[in-house]
Amino acid sequence: MHSKSIFAGTAIGYLVSLAAALNNGLSRTPALGWNSWNVAQCNAASASYALSTANAFVSLGLKDLGYTYINIDDCWSTLSRNSSGYLVPDPSKWPNGIKPVVDQIHGMGLKFGLYGCAGTKTCGGYPGSQGYEVKDAQTLAAWGVDYWKYDNCYTPCNGGAVQTCGSPAGSTQTWYGTMRNALQSVSRPILFSMCQWGRDNVWTWGANYGNSWRMSTDNWNDWASVVRIASAAAGMAQYAAPGGFNDLDMMGIIAINQDPLGKAATYFQPKGAAAPVPGQIYPYWAGPLTDGVAVGLVAATGAQTLSVNFADVPGLGSGIMNWVEYYTGKTGSGTSVSFSLGSHDMAILKVTKPGGSTSSTPSSAAASSTRTTTATAPGRTQTQYGQCGGTGWTGPIVTGTPSACRRPDGRLYANVP
Ligand SMILES: *[C@@H]1O[C@H](CO)[C@@H](O)[C@H](O)[C@H]1NC(C)=O
Repeated sequence: MHSKSIFAGTAIGYLVSLAAALNNGLSRTPALGWNSWNVAQCNAASASYALSTANAFVSLGLKDLGYTYINIDDCWSTLSRNSSGYLVPDPSKWPNGIKPVVDQIHGMGLKFGLYGCAGTKTCGGYPGSQGYEVKDAQTLAAWGVDYWKYDNCYTPCNGGAVQTCGSPAGSTQTWYGTMRNALQSVSRPILFSMCQWGRDNVWTWGANYGNSWRMSTDNWNDWASVVRIASAAAGMAQYAAPGGFNDLDMMGIIAINQDPLGKAATYFQPKGAAAPVPGQIYPYWAGPLTDGVAVGLVAATGAQTLSVNFADVPGLGSGIMNWVEYYTGKTGSGTSVSFSLGSHDMAILKVTKPGGSTSSTPSSAAASSTRTTTATAPGRTQTQYGQCGGTGWTGPIVTGTPSACRRPDGRLYANVP
């Protein structure tokens, strides 16, 4: 009897620990898709944007490449819940509600995502889910929603509710756990995309709570953001795995980031190369793929020629290798490769051993999805809201120069059409 009760206790402990993970079978590789925010902010949270984007995914061939999610961001609902406490789609944006749009998108073989927030309000001031998590999960399931981006504005804060809290009253783990549990209480699997701005070292616990976690504040569409995000991501590659990924905010290279191994890329230091410097992007990246090794060369500090001996790359070993570079489509074979890169340019290679697989997985720091990329021109396209940024500012077009509008790189955040 005694041993039996111990066994029962162990079994219960096991079940409890299983229940503590999201474990919904989703996000085996990083989600690919579209988010409405940077298109036209609040105005893009509509049926017409969702459907025209879904059509474009098909007609441009993006669907066939694996881009699946049509995600609507903030401002899709009315400013108040209905008297029963449910979110209501804004009828001016969703004339027939959301479900018929979702059905149509599903009929095209695509998936549909919505945006919510863990606090009392969304970052744009719409109803948040705090206290309504289960109702909102039920609403998502009833509409057939596939993806739930969950922001962190107006969450518990010392000194009162503010949009971007500088002194949180508690851990984001608490409120993200509440929503995770609510999603688990409905029968539909819904990808839980946590957008808590990389707080509370989310990468260390995110896989038990969601399918992805933003590991930093927003990508502000400038090179400084790329440096900030990519240099931080290099140190957390080991936390990415099928089912839960670091979210670098709109970065991706599909050919390798959909590898089923689900490992993230990180730095490797070739013989004779200087060591990485914290806060700067190191030129040499690598990580394992199911059928080779991904290698990234990044000219982060200016135009330069970058070379790599394949023998220096974790997981490759010695000998002649075949390679393909994804931006140029160039291919070749040899024991090394060299690329002349423009400033902020990069080369992304898949390297394979001729006629065979590569040696087993390199160190835990290895990687594939070099989701470090696309240095966009430093143009000012940011608009009047900062979403999921934690740098804090949302609301009408700024007229003064509030400090909250300073970007992480120290520059002022300006609204430039
Ligand atoms: C509120 O919305 C829910 C879900 O759409 C609906 O079932 C309920 O009837 C609505 N309540 C009122 C009072 O309109």
